Amino acid sequence: MGQTITNMADLEISGKRLLIREDLNVPLSAGKITSDARIRAALPTLQAAVEAGAATLIMSHLGRPTEGEFDAAFSLAPVAARLGELLGRKVALVELDQVPDLVPGDVALLENVRFLNGEKADCDELAQRLGALCDIFVMDAFATAHRAQASTHGVARFAPTACAGPLLAGELQALERALSEPARPMLAIVGGAKVSTKLDVLESLASLADGIIVGGGIANTFVAAAGYGVGQSLYEPDLLDTARRIADKVAVPLPVDVMVGRSMDADEPAVVRGIDQVGEDEKILDIGPETARQFAERLGASGTILWNGPVGVFEIDQFGEGTRVLAEAIRDADAFSIAGGGDTLAAIDKYGVREGVSYISTGGGAFLEFVEGKTLPAVAVLAETAAHGK
Ligand code: 3PG
Repeated sequence: MGQTITNMADLEISGKRLLIREDLNVPLSAGKITSDARIRAALPTLQAAVEAGAATLIMSHLGRPTEGEFDAAFSLAPVAARLGELLGRKVALVELDQVPDLVPGDVALLENVRFLNGEKADCDELAQRLGALCDIFVMDAFATAHRAQASTHGVARFAPTACAGPLLAGELQALERALSEPARPMLAIVGGAKVSTKLDVLESLASLADGIIVGGGIANTFVAAAGYGVGQSLYEPDLLDTARRIADKVAVPLPVDVMVGRSMDADEPAVVRGIDQVGEDEKILDIGPETARQFAERLGASGTILWNGPVGVFEIDQFGEGTRVLAEAIRDADAFSIAGGGDTLAAIDKYGVREGVSYISTGGGAFLEFVEGKTLPAVAVLAETAAHGK
């Protein structure tokens, strides 16, 4: 945090060849983009480059193909088409060994960088080839900034100049605002299946936040640690002491009631139970209405809200009420709110609260690593290049 990096806005980019790393890793189903949110998030950067008269080559990964092999299922062709529609200009999809000479105003997209040998290993040879394509490398892919790969990290060292794009800069600024000097009280919501996968985030927030609302299987582990029966619910018996240790450090309000079912089927009825009344054959699948009301009240009184993860199985409507109530409370709160992670974004869209969240991060893993206080290698290298006057 707080490293000095050069921003695209500080540089003269008119007439320059820009190589812009975006995260256009969008969800696809049968070759169709199911959410173009990441493409839209990149648009202001790309429009700024075009309007300034730069020649723009974009690069991104898509999915996790086998390196060194072309696989049509992971081609960026649908992304190039969608980008073209949104930018209102042709975006050619090009191969690394056939990059055309771009003139100011041109925009092209390099085919999936994960088809290229050396990408994952951050290989110098590939990074050098990429760096030679531009006058200025613009790292704008916050969502991939936790990966030290040739297109996110190595290229910055070989490009003549390297800088952060507006999307990356905006994400870092929003996260720093939420984490460095948060308006108090700061409340975090951490949902998800397992304490073990969010342990570093919980530990970090235990020192930073004034309270953590836990949800999903994570909450069940805290509920069990407090001595309540959780029936057939997903929880981690070997992490009960860890949950108790976290709850000793920071306020972790427990649900007073929950919604239970016997299965996760779409037509399974949701039944309200007091927290001490969960049956042996029942699963906790959401927080109950009184808990949702209490948590919503806390959110309304917060200065900062950090949201990662739903509090119930919100994909099934009758187990999504807790997440809906909290989403609406975040929308209505005066707090500075920041949300990140794939499930969280899906919940934001399902309950239509996008406009009410102060900042929606494009990051999943990168968002979590930032909250954990880890160094993002693709940001660290920009600080190094800035220190060397590049
Ligand atoms: C993401 O979706 O979190 C980013 O695009 C990074 O993808 P990866 O986990 O495959 O590196």
